[in-house]
Parts: sequence; structure tokens; C-alpha cells
Amino acid sequence: MYICKNCSYETLRWTGKCPQCGEWNSFEEKTTTLRKTSKIKASSPAEVQKIQTEPTQFMDRWKSASVELDGVLWWGLLAGSLVLLSWEPGIGKSTLALQMSDWYARENMSKVLYISGEENIGQISARALRLGITHDHIDLLTESDFDTIIATIESSSADIVVIDSLSVLTSASLEGALGSVSQIRTMTEVAMQVAKKLSKSLILIGHVTKDGSISWPKSLEHLVDVVLFLEGVRTENYRILRSLKNRFGTTDVVGLFQMKEDGLHDLSNPGMEFIDEQNLSLPWSALTMTVEGNRPILVEIEALSTYTKFGYPKRSARGITNGKLELLLAVMMKFTKTKLDSSDVYLNIAHGITLREPWVDLACIAALVSSKNNVPTGKVLYFWEVSLTGVIKNTLFLEKRLFEAEKLWFERVYIPSSYEGKIPKALKIERIAHVKELE
Ligand code: TYD
Ligand code: MG
Repeated sequence: MYICKNCSYETLRWTGKCPQCGEWNSFEEKTTTLRKTSKIKASSPAEVQKIQTEPTQFMDRWKSASVELDGVLWWGLLAGSLVLLSWEPGIGKSTLALQMSDWYARENMSKVLYISGEENIGQISARALRLGITHDHIDLLTESDFDTIIATIESSSADIVVIDSLSVLTSASLEGALGSVSQIRTMTEVAMQVAKKLSKSLILIGHVTKDGSISWPKSLEHLVDVVLFLEGVRTENYRILRSLKNRFGTTDVVGLFQMKEDGLHDLSNPGMEFIDEQNLSLPWSALTMTVEGNRPILVEIEALSTYTKFGYPKRSARGITNGKLELLLAVMMKFTKTKLDSSDVYLNIAHGITLREPWVDLACIAALVSSKNNVPTGKVLYFWEVSLTGVIKNTLFLEKRLFEAEKLWFERVYIPSSYEGKIPKALKIERIAHVKELE
């Protein structure tokens, strides 16, 4: 078996170029040894245990000074847990990791060890000063040799350790080529053993790239307790911290942050934060409310359609998938008077937000119609998913969204006609059954 060092793609035969990530000479042989045992060795029986009446989520969780972070980790960082924090370079992982060190150290008066293989003491100190971190509960180590790192962690009194980042670590004693993916995997397994044995919480950082050319942190996900993503767009100030996996809690809470000159700040009350009110009078956008981990967030969808100069019309989306945009255009083409088959279409979710739920379809269509007809949608909210038949389907948590809309001074909302729940008094409700009614 051969494995690509870059993206973990596996193949039976060696090839010069990886078919998944396109990297050259990136395959290395992975040897798997099967133990030849025909009989199970006789052993003394292990002691069995009962279910603990005091659940582990209430035990030994480190609280931080950030409500958003604690929420994502489900009431705090569990002692002895291994966390992988990943996303694209430049998004703010090192910044968050240093702030986490500060938040945990300050809140618990405990020691944190911050290990960086990417930056020197001067660079880390400059960032710490920028973030206003001055107290001495954080120990710094700049090191990329994994064996030295583990020895230091074992002898350190720190309860929480950050390692920034896995991609620069090498080990002379572990199997595999220096810095290879298989070596990083083994390092992660060793880190897990150390975390459990010493009951220290370890936060590992890994980089991924959007185009998938670096995606090896994905292959570590099953080895760690918690996987966090710090998402956002580099040029925008907002960051969303999501948990993809959490062995000790739910994954449906997201943390909202704003990146400022002095680091990440909790954004506990997003309200109209992601909306530019002056845009509401312009013919290119529509508003909707997405629910991220139980919390409603207003988002603005911008659309631009222009006449296609060359034969094949261009479609480009940011914040939703291109496939979704194509599908919505096909539904519009079939059922509405707004034909965009000879237009280039661009769709963008403002402020670099990525929408994952389907209940924003209508708002996307409303934005496209608004752009094509040159008519602003105004301070109106659109909630629903559109089926392939053009029928408007019901929205999850619609009641919650409606009451939130009332709080934010919305006057009119478009909802599916099948909705039977409560309606806030101050809202004017437009009920729609089919997408063709939206013109
Ligand atoms: P960084 O934490 O180095 O990203 P990563 O570790 O994910 O590669 O973040 C770098 C970006 O964050 C950089 O473009 C500058 C910005 N930043 C701020 O806006 N405010 C701050 O206080 C800090 C420290 C960084
Ligand atoms: Mg970094």
C-alpha cells in the first residue's frame, strides 16, 4: 500500500503524481504487519465497571474567559482531552490559540504551555503584546522536534498545552519519513496517550486549504477527541468556531468572534451585525436568517446578473455551493418569469459567511430576482427551502426565526403557506406556496 504524504490518498501501486492532490513524488510505502496468532492468549479477566452517575461533562472542565469558546467546547475544555484546531493559513488559529492560553491561564490561575514550531519567541511575544497578554502563567517553547516537545510536556506542570503546528514537527524516533503524514499520525497518537496519562489538555493546530491541496488534518480527525474549525474569510472580520466532532458534548453550538486589532472578541449578540442597512434600498440583495447552533443570525445575500458576452454563461457563488446556485437557477428558469439562462450570475453571502442550511433558498432567489428586475427587496425576510418542483417547503425553527425577526424590527416576512405555528403580532406575513408567486 502506498500513501500520499500530502493528502493521505491511498493506492496499491506506486505512482509519480497523486491523482487526488496533483502532488509529484509524494507517495511513500505504508507497511502493515499482521500478527500471526491462531489462538487468543490466556489472560486474567479485567475488572468491569458500572455507569457513572455523575456524568463526565460536569467533571474537570477548564472554563475560559470566552463564553463563545466555552459554548463550542460544551461548558469548557475537558481535562485530558486532545483537541485539533484547523482551517486555512492566516485565518487566526495561532491568534486564537494564544488567546486561549491567556483565557485559560487567567480564568483558572493555572499554567499553560504554548509550543510553537513556526514562530520564534520575539514573534510570539510581539503577538502577545498586541493581544494585551502580559502575565506570566504562559510558558513558551519554540521547538519543532517532537521528542523534545513530549519530554518537555511530561516534565511541565502546565495543565493545558498548545502545539502550533503539527505540520512543522519532525521526530527522529518515530517510524516514517521526517514530517510525513504517517509520522504526524503517529505523533497525534502519542499526544493522545500523553494527554490521557497525565490528564493534560492538548490543543494541536493543523492547516487545511480550501482547494483541498492540503487536507491531511482530515486523516487525524478520528484520532482526536475534539475537532474545531475556525472559519471565515481572511479579509472579513468575522470568525465562526465550529466543532465537527466532540466526544464529550454536542457539536451544534458555534462560537462567533470578531477579529479586531487586538485579537478575537466574543460576538455574543450578532443581531444586525452581518447586515449593511444601507444596502437594503439597493436592488441586489435579500435578507434571511440562518440558525447556527441554535442561534439565529441575520445574513444578507447579494446577487449580480449581467448579460453574457460569450456563449456560455458564468455562474459563481461564494458562501453556498455552485451546485446549489445552478439548481436554484434551474428552478427559476422552469417556474418563474425571471430567465437568467443568458446571464452571468454571481451570488455572494455577505461578510464571508458560509451557509449550510437549505432554508435560505428563497432568499437567494429573491436576491436574483431583485438584481434582474432592478427592484430592491427592502427590509423583508425570506425563509424557505425550494423543492425541485418549485414548491416551498417548511423551515425548521421557523417560529424562533419569526420572533427573532420581530425583535429586530422587521415588518414583513415571506414564509411557506404550510406554516401552522405562532406568528408575532408586529409582523406582516406573506404566505407563499410556490416559487412562481415570487415575481
Ligand atoms: P494567525 O493567527 O497568524 O493565523 P493562522 O495561525 O491561522 O495562520 O492570524 C493572522 C491574521 O490575523 C493576520 O492577517 C493578522 C490578523 N490579526 C488581527 O487582525 N488582529 C490581531 O490581533 C492579530 C494577532 C492578528
Ligand atoms: Mg499560525
